[in-house]
Amino acid sequence: MSGETAIGIHDLSIATTRYVLTHATLAAQIGSDVAKYERGIGQVSMSVAAPDEDIVTMAAAAAEPIVARHGADRIRTVVFATETAVDQAKAAGIHVHSLLGLPSATRVVELKQACYSGTAALQFGISLVHRDPAEQVLVIASDVSKYDLGSPGEATQGAAAVAMLVSADPALVRIEDPSGIFTADIMDFWRPNYRTTALVDGRESISAYLQAVEGTWKDYTERGGHDLDEFRAFCYHQPFTKMANKAHRHLLNYCGHEVDEAAVNRAIGHTTTYNAVIGNSYTASMYVALASLLDNADDLTDQAIGFLSYGSGAVAEFFAGTVVPGYRALLRSRSHREAISRRQDIDYARYREIHEHSFPVDGGDYPVPRETTGPFRLAGLSGHKRIYEPR
Ligand code: HMG
Repeated sequence: MSGETAIGIHDLSIATTRYVLTHATLAAQIGSDVAKYERGIGQVSMSVAAPDEDIVTMAAAAAEPIVARHGADRIRTVVFATETAVDQAKAAGIHVHSLLGLPSATRVVELKQACYSGTAALQFGISLVHRDPAEQVLVIASDVSKYDLGSPGEATQGAAAVAMLVSADPALVRIEDPSGIFTADIMDFWRPNYRTTALVDGRESISAYLQAVEGTWKDYTERGGHDLDEFRAFCYHQPFTKMANKAHRHLLNYCGHEVDEAAVNRAIGHTTTYNAVIGNSYTASMYVALASLLDNADDLTDQAIGFLSYGSGAVAEFFAGTVVPGYRALLRSRSHREAISRRQDIDYARYREIHEHSFPVDGGDYPVPRETTGPFRLAGLSGHKRIYEPR
């Protein structure tokens, strides 16, 4: 625990997109065996953002129910983690702050380090609450994962946002010390400023991830963390859900445990349900895994959960959380399932059109057609400014 005050996740809400592309559709289009996706990488479908959706609209959709439930009086900081920034200077969280009508006495900042920055944002929030337990921090992780058409990464796209309220005496999960941390300068996945799609060395990225599992676990245990057997479940960053399986097998092996498929499934089972149909949501992915676990597993009260957050480049962190008694009454399971199930299936031609869509860069007025069914939308661009509005 952080000092004497229990601090952690008081509320958790996820949002995703208007559209979904199934891997069956993708496989049929590119002449691949769908089993390569469904069994090989553990993905069934991926969320596709409509042109009037982006990291801001998803983030605001995820955060709105949290503010509705708890009010904004204690929220003095909004930390927005993303690697799909919509501006090089202004924090995307300021748009969310405005859409949700948060008080002006708020600090808003954006954090970046590939998929890891959601965890940096959570730890930043915990530190602020530790300093003043009366404050709450709204932590948001929101991303749209995009690779080139026809590239191996294409099957691992997706999009989602997670909003978490970080608070003293949290109602869902207490986040504990110590953390095991790891950084290594590895070019496994990156996106230069002039590209809209990521570059990746797929095999290198998987081995970098597994190296980070070892590095974080070594640091975690050296700092006196729990034994492996004390964890009930593990939420891994899931670029594709099979990666969680690979990571947990690797951890068992590294710790000298027998790699038993039933034990792996018990540890990660319910954490992959949402990500298998949403796809990679970068910064949000590990927290989507947590939502999936809390929503779908039997009672986890007082159980320890392990978290492995990985961001290419590469930075990673392993830490533990303990599920708080009474958490089940506060879950948003129904709205999470609805957000996933109400997505509209699109064909390959429509997906391709959306993938290739980009706005002109001449500063003109460009309204965006209404497509999202979410509560907020990108209304258009005007004078190089993005205009957001409630739907
Ligand atoms: P690929 O070359 O398309 O696929 O790349 P593959 O040939 O390696 O096959 C994938 C798996 O499917 C293999 O299983 C095959 O055996 C199996 P594995 O050997 O790995 O266990 N397979 C089949 N299984 C059943 N029936 C079949 C069949 N055919 C093949 N018929 C790759 C796959 C993941 C590399 C690619 O999609 C990619 O490059 N994705 C993007 C990179 C990525 O997700 N890396 C993960 C680690 S890095 C990370 O997590 C960070 C990230 O989120 C970014 C950030 O931090 O911001 C990406």
